[in-house]
Amino acid sequence: MPRNVVVTGSGSGIGAALTALLRARGDRVIGVDLRGGDVDADLSTPEGRATAAAAARDAAGGVVDAVVTCAGTSVPGTAMVTVNYFGTTEFLTALRPALAAAERPRAVVIGSISGTQPSDPDVVAACLADDEATALAHAERAVADGRARQLYPSSKAALAQWARRTAVAEGWADAGIPVNVVAPGIVLTPMSAGIFDDPEMKKVMDTAVPMPLNGYLRPEDVAAAVLFLVSEENSHITGQVVYVDGGAEATLRGPSDF
Ligand code: NAI
Repeated sequence: MPRNVVVTGSGSGIGAALTALLRARGDRVIGVDLRGGDVDADLSTPEGRATAAAAARDAAGGVVDAVVTCAGTSVPGTAMVTVNYFGTTEFLTALRPALAAAERPRAVVIGSISGTQPSDPDVVAACLADDEATALAHAERAVADGRARQLYPSSKAALAQWARRTAVAEGWADAGIPVNVVAPGIVLTPMSAGIFDDPEMKKVMDTAVPMPLNGYLRPEDVAAAVLFLVSEENSHITGQVVYVDGGAEATLRGPSDF
């Protein structure tokens, strides 16, 4: 049976690769992106998220079999918080009833290996308190202090914690909805292209994200892991951060931290 799958960030990189794979196997994808999607919306604002979720739900006829949130940005600035974190958590929460209406619903959030790197505890705490105004105030301070780059790991660390907490909260596991995070290493997409333009930056990234198994990822490699987690076969995996990173997390954190 074809399933209705909502994919944010469907126009580029991982979201585009996932959309192509899902459509190739007969699923119906409702793509959400800034432009050119089935639903065009700006997930950086509460209005944009609410409108997008309502439009995606309607396009799916009220029953959504899976949601995958790929939309994100690595441009240093507050959008790292508004898009990467709230653009996922609010969007997914708005679609929870439509997921609960499906027979075998699934949700996957795209995190990052960066979520294991140093973050801004105030931003993370405000995100997890669902307090966007305070998160934005801390994010603006980080930008003013020259710490804008820290907002990316902060958004991804908060996302991982949100997903683990949400997976077992009322209305999710007990409604049959697994929630997992796929956390990639470096993926060859438009987002990471700048790394390869600058040999110094590439050296820094190769040290920060060592990938001994098969090197950099193609977006399809990440999509393949997502495909399993949103499939009907995934009956019991929930609340997990699945590192699809060529061994980066195991290298960086070592064998005892899992
Ligand atoms: P990409 O830049 O190719 O695609 C991101 C998509 O998100 C674009 O289609 C863009 O239009 C959309 N988007 C951005 N802001 C939006 C907004 N305000 N509203 C709606 N849509 C918006 O990036 P990529 O690499 O495919 O990234 C996908 C996810 O994977 C992101 O969450 C990123 O943080 C994560 N990731 C990427 C890695 C990489 O090396 N490329 C590594 C680890 C995680």
